[in-house]
Amino acid sequence: MSKRFKVWVSRPLFPDVLARIAQFVDLDAEAVERVHSPEMLRQRLAGVDGAIVGLADRVDASTLAGNDRLKVISNLAVGYNNLDIEALTRAGVLACNTPEVLNETTADYAWALLLAAARRVGAAERWVRAGQWRGAMRFDDWLGVDVHGKTLGILGMGRIGQAVARRASGFDMRVLYHNRNRLSESMECECAARWVDKATLLRESDHLVLVLPYARENHHIIGAAELALMKPSAVLVNIARGGLLDEAALAAALREGRLAAAGLDVYEEEPVVHPDLLALEQVVLSPHLGSASADTRRNMAELAVDNVLAGLGLGPEAGRPPAPINPRVLAARRLGSKA
Ligand code: GLV
Repeated sequence: MSKRFKVWVSRPLFPDVLARIAQFVDLDAEAVERVHSPEMLRQRLAGVDGAIVGLADRVDASTLAGNDRLKVISNLAVGYNNLDIEALTRAGVLACNTPEVLNETTADYAWALLLAAARRVGAAERWVRAGQWRGAMRFDDWLGVDVHGKTLGILGMGRIGQAVARRASGFDMRVLYHNRNRLSESMECECAARWVDKATLLRESDHLVLVLPYARENHHIIGAAELALMKPSAVLVNIARGGLLDEAALAAALREGRLAAAGLDVYEEEPVVHPDLLALEQVVLSPHLGSASADTRRNMAELAVDNVLAGLGLGPEAGRPPAPINPRVLAARRLGSKA
């Protein structure tokens, strides 16, 4: 009998999803959520053929040093800035992610944050819970900014950005976007969105949503200079990655009334939130849960499993993982060479 592959799952997953992996491989799944140090990660990955990892697991050349067993890393997320794809490709390790299945859920959540920030839901809820709604409330208390009829700006117009844009028609909004590549005319029409340069986007948006992948080149793509172009009545939402936004500059803009409100789901140093942001009532904060609906998290887990099994040449899609990031590795394997 041939030896079974071994797969490590770095964080607890749905038991029935894990059971599906265990039909094909020897499974080592973490039972509790934990942060793995680089050394722990290195050791765990050294002893397995495949792994399902989360965004907190950073895999780079040093994690892979001396590892000649690992064949597949399946990221439990669509974004993969935690993975050094070049290093994985050099090491002949296939990397996969979970695109598409979370588009609509994450777009829903962008709207949840936008509406909550614009209409001050977070602060109002804290006020009610604290028992402060005692007597009559002033007519001009808790005034927020309107969403309907305003201009929605989207920075980054991939599939999630497009899903955010499509929802805006229900709010009767004008939609502007900026993206390195323009959408096709038919897609712009479907999203009812118009491409503008970045400065125009910043100047004209009443509500700006960041939906672009993080890369070193777009670190702090929104910093003090960009915030200075925005309207003082504007609302900024970040559902992408914390590193896109200079949090200290954002806190200063909010504190000084140069921006009305913000909704943040992601942070530069997760799980640490910049203390200046914590001190501001006009920021709605959530713990990186854009894709966290029951259905979508399950679909992501299933896709991550399909990726790892297929990447190991197992299961119904053997050799054809649904979401490879560096398919060069697969091509090289077929040719029996290094990528
Ligand atoms: C979440 O942030 C993801 O990239 O899936």
